[in-house]
Amino acid sequence: MTATQVQVRAPGKINLALHVGPPRSDGYHPLATLFQAVSLYEDVLARPADEITLELRGRGTDLPTDAGNLAVRAAALLRETGGVDRGVHLTVTKQVPVAGGMAGGSADAAATLLACDQLWGTGLSREELAELAAELGADVPFALTGMSAMGVGRGDLLTPVMSRGTYHWVLAVQDEGLSTPHVFRTFDALAGHTVPSAAGPGSDVAGPGGAGDLAGPGGAGPRVDPGLLAALLSADPLVLAKHLSNDLQEAALDLRPELGDVLAAADRAGALAAVVSGSGPTVAALALDGPHAVSVAGVMRAAEVATEVLTVTGPVPGARVLEHVQGRR
Ligand code: C5P
Repeated sequence: MTATQVQVRAPGKINLALHVGPPRSDGYHPLATLFQAVSLYEDVLARPADEITLELRGRGTDLPTDAGNLAVRAAALLRETGGVDRGVHLTVTKQVPVAGGMAGGSADAAATLLACDQLWGTGLSREELAELAAELGADVPFALTGMSAMGVGRGDLLTPVMSRGTYHWVLAVQDEGLSTPHVFRTFDALAGHTVPSAAGPGSDVAGPGGAGDLAGPGGAGPRVDPGLLAALLSADPLVLAKHLSNDLQEAALDLRPELGDVLAAADRAGALAAVVSGSGPTVAALALDGPHAVSVAGVMRAAEVATEVLTVTGPVPGARVLEHVQGRR
């Protein structure tokens, strides 16, 4: 018996806080971030095939379907690692905005790893899948884990964080995305940072995992404010609202000044606080509860500052199998 069909769902994320340090010699930036997975999902259906092929539904139907797509790279990496000689046909149904700062592509990759692991019976542990995830991109491990987690290093070294209650968000989505590398480069330009050469002083390439100087006790890397961790335990959105922050917000606003109108509209609509998610351009506005989120969303829609205004909740679980159909091939 072998699996004939596996369906996996993985969530998008917002960054409740995102602290960014100057670039390392590999060009990556040391981060300290607090991820919350939210109820906007990527669904990946995996079926047996000879090659690795991909079909896109929902958003992003103009994205590449070859190795330029992170889901295809995820399947190829697992196939190589697991010594698998079969292929997969992937159908990815996207809800998460493309290039929106919500890690939709990373969720596709995480869901694909889990789906192909089940389809091919490679039987990797969650830890092994997380290692492959980190090779694929900085945000991919979190899409596997979900819920609430602190991320350091490139954002891929995760520690689960305790969070109480459910938070209600209004997401202002733009149809034109922002390029993450472009936002980081703009961040560097605004801060006057330059990328140190790999061989030069201050190189962190030889350090443990290239990130050991970021997370260890006494390390100089950015840190998540302990007040934010306490806020998540309070289950009180009014407390959480005081702790939302994003060091990339200024760079996103520099590249897309209209985001200032979105933040102002969220404020006028009565949101408790609003912040650009990750590298943007999605803006996440925090509401008091579900009905308040609906009301804030209505006012923000009327302000016509976004292509789409959605309501979501968080935290939600990471990548999980929704369906696993067994059959004879
Ligand atoms: O890891 P991922 O491919 O998702 O990152 C996309 C880009 O974002 C990187 O190529 C890099 O330019 C930038 N980035 C960064 N520092 C991080 C994470 C991402 O500079 N910690």
